[in-house]
Amino acid sequence: MKILVIGSGGREHALVWKIKQSPLASKIFCVPGNAGTRGIAANVHIEATDIVGLKEFALKEKVDLTIVGPEDLLVNGIVDNFKAVGLNIFGPSMAAAALEGSKVFMKNLCAKYNIPTAPYGVFEDHKSAKKYLDINKLPIVIKADGLAAGKGVTVCHTLEKALDALNEIFEDKKFGDAGNKVVIEECLGDEEASHISLVDKNGNILSLESSQDHKARDDGDKGPNTGGMGAYSPAPVVNPEIEAAIMEKITRPIVRAMWKEGMPFSGVLYAGLMIKDENPHVLEFNVRFGDPEIQPILARMKSDIVPVILTALDGKLDTVKIEWDPRPAVCVVMASKGYPYEYKKCFEISNIDEAEKGGAIVFHAGTKNGCRGAIETSGGRVLGVTAKGDTFQKAKDSAYQGVEKITCDNLFWRNDIADKAINRK
Ligand code: AMP
Ligand code: GLY
Repeated sequence: MKILVIGSGGREHALVWKIKQSPLASKIFCVPGNAGTRGIAANVHIEATDIVGLKEFALKEKVDLTIVGPEDLLVNGIVDNFKAVGLNIFGPSMAAAALEGSKVFMKNLCAKYNIPTAPYGVFEDHKSAKKYLDINKLPIVIKADGLAAGKGVTVCHTLEKALDALNEIFEDKKFGDAGNKVVIEECLGDEEASHISLVDKNGNILSLESSQDHKARDDGDKGPNTGGMGAYSPAPVVNPEIEAAIMEKITRPIVRAMWKEGMPFSGVLYAGLMIKDENPHVLEFNVRFGDPEIQPILARMKSDIVPVILTALDGKLDTVKIEWDPRPAVCVVMASKGYPYEYKKCFEISNIDEAEKGGAIVFHAGTKNGCRGAIETSGGRVLGVTAKGDTFQKAKDSAYQGVEKITCDNLFWRNDIADKAINRK
């Protein structure tokens, strides 16, 4: 069958890499893809935001299955558009994608259905938002309502930072209309985890193995938030009791809530969690695979992903069991110097094959083939060097050995990915 993967990040390279191993996949397209997907799929040059162009392409090529990486397409209704012309696509409707598209919608739904999340307020003007700061304790978290490419959240430890964040949203319009409303919420401590499930049209839920992202740019979780500087799977903080609590208090209730609200959710449901005093709280819902989380998760998935997704589309996820490699996997993101702010592009990258000879899988994100054929940097997050090992320490060592082999003049990375799992008592 012909399968289309939309997106150009490490997530999409990992998906294409996994789909490529399926005997069911006769042809894989990736739009627009990167230098990593180029070797294993046909990269197609359509703007990844052009829903009409994507639909025409899928119709022309008679694509049998489409999997969408990035959230903006889902929030802008690609699934409704594809389904209207009979194309098979895995993901939520535009209405259901509001779970990620609007933090106000998500927080209000959690409040209505008693799903544990941080206490919050919603504000549409600068003055009342500032007033709320006066009556609440620091640290506090300020979130633009709409999509902001993972940059709309500021964890504020000082009043000055909180006031700056509000200024950027309301006065500088840093996030445009995505900042017309803000959520201000209590800062929850302890440890984060990502819990990703597949949900089918009948409400059946099949969870993937847990993972933990490293959102902050610098070692020790310091510096600004990024899209994710590395991840590992499984996340030991998600022990069987916590896993059961996530399903009972968060994932099943939100799926039921969406049904009750008349917008049943199907697709990938990603719960971004803070585990506080052994209790999971939702920080966010995403409606797509996490990146980089899906890189170590797919590195551990032994089952063929294609029949799993086809069964989800049939509404029969209750009949599926996924087999996992019990060994942990660690993914270290190599990013362009300057990321998550401004950075330069077009630096040559070499020795990726050397890193892979040592056992790592190198997923590409912001890479392209330069005019002289060499692989060059073309984005903020550039590579996800992913490795498995018998222990977290061994997986970490193997991933970093891969990182050390790769040469490029403009990359940086964190050195402590997976330390939380290694040092866990
Ligand atoms: P979000 O997009 O809402 O998940 O926020 C991005 C990141 O900001 C999260 O992964 C956390 O690291 C941090 N964050 C968000 N909300 C909170 C919160 N209430 N308390 C502490 N950290 C938070
Ligand atoms: N790594 C965080 C995300 O995919 O949203």
